[in-house]
Amino acid sequence: MAKQMRICVLAGDGIGPEITRQALKIVGIAADYLEMELVTDEALIGGAAIDAEGLPLPLQTITHCRSADAVLLGAVGGSKWDTLPMHLRPEAGLMALRAKMGLYANIRPAMLLKPLRSIAPLHSEIDGFDLLMVRELAGGIYFGDKGKTDVDGARAAYDTEIYTAPEIERIARIAFRFAQNRRKNLVSIDKSSMLQTSRLWRETVEQLHSEFPDVTLRHLHADHAAMELIRNPAQFDVIVTSNLFGDILSEEAAALTGSVGLVPSASLGYTTKGIYEAVHGSAPDLAGKNVANPIGAIRSAAMMFQFSFSRKDIGDAIEQAVTETLESCRTADIAVSGLEVVSTEEMGDRVAQKLRSLLSSKG
Ligand code: IPM
Ligand code: MN
Repeated sequence: MAKQMRICVLAGDGIGPEITRQALKIVGIAADYLEMELVTDEALIGGAAIDAEGLPLPLQTITHCRSADAVLLGAVGGSKWDTLPMHLRPEAGLMALRAKMGLYANIRPAMLLKPLRSIAPLHSEIDGFDLLMVRELAGGIYFGDKGKTDVDGARAAYDTEIYTAPEIERIARIAFRFAQNRRKNLVSIDKSSMLQTSRLWRETVEQLHSEFPDVTLRHLHADHAAMELIRNPAQFDVIVTSNLFGDILSEEAAALTGSVGLVPSASLGYTTKGIYEAVHGSAPDLAGKNVANPIGAIRSAAMMFQFSFSRKDIGDAIEQAVTETLESCRTADIAVSGLEVVSTEEMGDRVAQKLRSLLSSKG
């Protein structure tokens, strides 16, 4: 019997279900090509789980994810759940799942695809860029002590950023390794002029550099980095940064590609098991309209082949299918005159068709 590929699908909220369906089409084609049996299993997360079970990450969801080889996630969140206490919000479900699965590295590539050069926001200034953001995912201000208090009689609130040296070292190690396999250029982003955590971050990354002498290392402050990303994104190869800075800067980098709908991510830990999800959110205003861009989700599936199934060649084929498809059609967010505008589902079908032909010529 064919080897199994067990994927847990967490469609989530908003456009999550629509885009995940398209990613699954692509996974199905690749599984056929690899002669693997695709076994999918669906579970609830985020607002969908709150509505059905009263909490954003039901216990069964964790069990399902743990027994799968990889998790394909749509998106979580929506204004419907905005008034819930923090720990019961849809986003808390995703945060908790990342932590329960031990995923500490969030890998977010952003590049300018050739067919999108004319629509990327700064295209006249930018000659192309291809960067990889490595965001720490299991620590920092997202996970430190937080609460409400009062200060001199005024309502107050606090969040604490805390990082241990081993947490910094393990994420920096991953970033150095990526850099070694790319253009050997690493930028570490912090705010060491103001934050103690950033000072430790900088010292730790600097120390680890001696193990990777072939990689050039630079440090930038987060505010400066935000500007440099817009001024000249081509200067970046691999970026490593904390949870919060990575959240913000990866979305900035995503916007430079032409649409946040295009950008994928992989959340990884010590094993090959990961969560694969687009960088964008649940876009409730687009939900159910069959207009959302499924490319971020499809490319996340490409990352799944690379990292969870050690088939970078399949990931590359999916990437190629996406790029070639974008030469002839677009979803609304990246529409240009002269090219057909297609629905979410049609975009999935077009990429699927391209992938099928690419794989069959690969033999
Ligand atoms: C992301 C999202 C999440 C984050 C939210 C939904 C918790 O914005 O994946 O970037 O902040 O990590
Ligand atoms: Mn984010």
